[in-house]
Amino acid sequence: MASTVIKGGTVVTHDLSYPADVLIEGGRIADIGPDLRGDEVLDATGCLVMPGGIDPHTHLEMPFMGTYSSDDFESGTRAALAGGTTMVVDFVLPGQGQGLLDGLQMWHNKSGRANCDYSYHMAVTWWGEQVWNDIPKVLDQGITTFKHFMAYKGALMVNDDELFASFRRLGELGGIALVHAENGDVVAELQRKLLEEGNRGPEAHAYSRPPQVEGEATNRAIMIADMAGVPLYVVHVSSEDAHEAIRRARAGGKRVWGEPLIQHLTLDDSEYRHPDWDHAARRVMSPPFRDRKHQDSLWAGLQSGSLSVVATDHCAFTTEQKRFGLNDFTKIPNGTGGLEDRMPMLWTHGVATGRLTPNEFVAVTSTNIAKILGCYPRKGAVMVGADADLVVWDPEKTKTITAQAQQSAIDYNVFEGHEVKGLPRFTLTRGFVAIHDGEVRTREGHGQFVARDRAQPVAKALSTWKELTAPRPVTRTGVPASGV
Ligand code: URP
Ligand code: ZN
Ligand code: ZN
Ligand code: ZN
Repeated sequence: MASTVIKGGTVVTHDLSYPADVLIEGGRIADIGPDLRGDEVLDATGCLVMPGGIDPHTHLEMPFMGTYSSDDFESGTRAALAGGTTMVVDFVLPGQGQGLLDGLQMWHNKSGRANCDYSYHMAVTWWGEQVWNDIPKVLDQGITTFKHFMAYKGALMVNDDELFASFRRLGELGGIALVHAENGDVVAELQRKLLEEGNRGPEAHAYSRPPQVEGEATNRAIMIADMAGVPLYVVHVSSEDAHEAIRRARAGGKRVWGEPLIQHLTLDDSEYRHPDWDHAARRVMSPPFRDRKHQDSLWAGLQSGSLSVVATDHCAFTTEQKRFGLNDFTKIPNGTGGLEDRMPMLWTHGVATGRLTPNEFVAVTSTNIAKILGCYPRKGAVMVGADADLVVWDPEKTKTITAQAQQSAIDYNVFEGHEVKGLPRFTLTRGFVAIHDGEVRTREGHGQFVARDRAQPVAKALSTWKELTAPRPVTRTGVPASGV
């Protein structure tokens, strides 16, 4: 069996940094230590050897707003690897009335082309007996995380009664609830009002989704999850309003995680005031980019641990697709890209500025989410026996981000013109060198589905606590005779 050795680098994990070589055999890490030998040698001099990134929030070839997002599992995972990400987690979106397992099959049909490993979250887009019955079957397939949209009224949104029913079912079975937290009723009403008043441009997208709709829904989801006894993961946390709710919940002992996106950490709402319609529309996503003051809150959350994971919500639409909404901002497909740029942008704006340590960088790009998902230490670790999903990171390497040089299939990049310092020299997916010093050597179909462990320690701890503190009838003495 041919082996590969990564020589001369510094291994950086979520808790340690130390000089060592890493030996890979059969797609796994076989040894870590000094002076290792292998058939193929990758020179990591001056580089950091880190767990490959895990992006837990992508929408590849997603049917949405009358079209499909333009990066599929091939181009999307190629972009991921080029940027040092070695695993993506995509959302299965069953249609109204469609069974969860049918939906899952649709996603398996698309993902065969993936260049790196992947897993799924299951979306609960409607509620009924079939969904109730299907949830344990989905858990049995190694999918432990279930997404609920509190926005997109009339499409993906579920109401509070459905949310509570689904959360309780998940709590009972050891699953984890995910939410897109925006008040969909208020958004729909604001959209109607803005259109009526003649606000039709992309800037009105942001006006229709102020931070309050996110803060309110985040708090509501947290309280409903607490009453249902299920751990909650809040996706794309973009505002202090939402972060504040999460921070408070965590300080109060609730099991809640928050996921900011690299876009919200580095871009702001001035983009929507750009005079070029295309420029503004390309940046329409939900939640929208925010005033700069929210960025400070999100960075502070990553530093202090109140926010746990940095993702992208990669959902790429071409300019042509964005133009569906030329005369009506509510018809602009929601979503932006970022898979290739998440790690370099976070390193540049986080580690190089001193807001994050390299170990914290590993935690928020890989290890924390591997633990939440239930695939640690197979993923998210540099450890003997772990999958050799690794990035050899050159902290001195620079580039200017351009659409022209990107792997993504779309015709623009929301980070166009940003200088980044800190890029992969090599990216390895289960030992295969997919990115080799700037050269893309990805292999279509190499990626495998990652089934995850449903015995999530946090879910187990929470159900133990909820069982212990559940309401019980009071046993009384001297009960009066009935009917008195
Ligand atoms: O605008 C966004 N975020 N599009 C993708 C779907 C979602 O809400 O995550
Ligand atoms: Zn969302
Ligand atoms: Zn999303
Ligand atoms: Zn920048």
